[in-house]
Amino acid sequence: MLFTKTSKLAEIVHQNYLLIPIISRFGIKFGFGDKNVEQVCKQYQIHTDFFIEIINTFNDKEYTPSKKLRELPLNITVNYLLKSHKYFNQVKLPIIENLIHQLKWENADNKNNKLILDKFFNEYRNEVIEHTSNEEKEVYPFILEIEKNFHKTRADEQFLNVLSKKSIRKYADTHDELNSALLDLKNIIIKYLPPADNNEITNQILQEIFGLEKDMEDHTKLEDSVVVPAAVMMEKELRKQLDK
Ligand SMILES: [Fe+2]
Ligand SMILES: [Fe+2]
Repeated sequence: MLFTKTSKLAEIVHQNYLLIPIISRFGIKFGFGDKNVEQVCKQYQIHTDFFIEIINTFNDKEYTPSKKLRELPLNITVNYLLKSHKYFNQVKLPIIENLIHQLKWENADNKNNKLILDKFFNEYRNEVIEHTSNEEKEVYPFILEIEKNFHKTRADEQFLNVLSKKSIRKYADTHDELNSALLDLKNIIIKYLPPADNNEITNQILQEIFGLEKDMEDHTKLEDSVVVPAAVMMEKELRKQLDK
């Protein structure tokens, strides 16, 4: 199902509760009554088309963000991506870490199990931190520079110089390491660790991990199918100025 500007926000939450963290990432708080998307976006000064695109992208696996999203200024999407990074690193990963610390095994292997799990969790977290901070320090600023220069009659000499040495294309497939570290973490819990005494915590950990995975997949979809293609197109145009 496709949501539109006139969809009631409360209905959207009833339809798919997995959208709750996405909605709150925009700063929207509950208690929105019968307001529709357009009214809520106006209240919170959110770009309505952007909000709808994000909600539809996250709601439907098959949905490919429309051309409209690719035509919006990239800093709107980049700002949203930055908020998601903050949410992954400062909210979700600490929740999972905290749950892992609560796991208990009565027998002597207890300590060892915790060490194994900590090791896999830390590997995954380090991958996420490394990936997101590289995007924040290198990739996103480069993308915004590309966009800024694209709108100038003639790109800055300094920027053209940078462009002769690097390209945004290189960035397109750096998401694989993240997936493999996550698969290891899931499997160690699902398949290999002996059952913990407080198994309900194990369930919660897995729910959190799968939830984070879904959130990250959609995040990556935005990077790979909206931001990068737009930047690649602009970079291609800018490269024409390199020979002049
Ligand atoms: Fe990212
Ligand atoms: Fe990424």
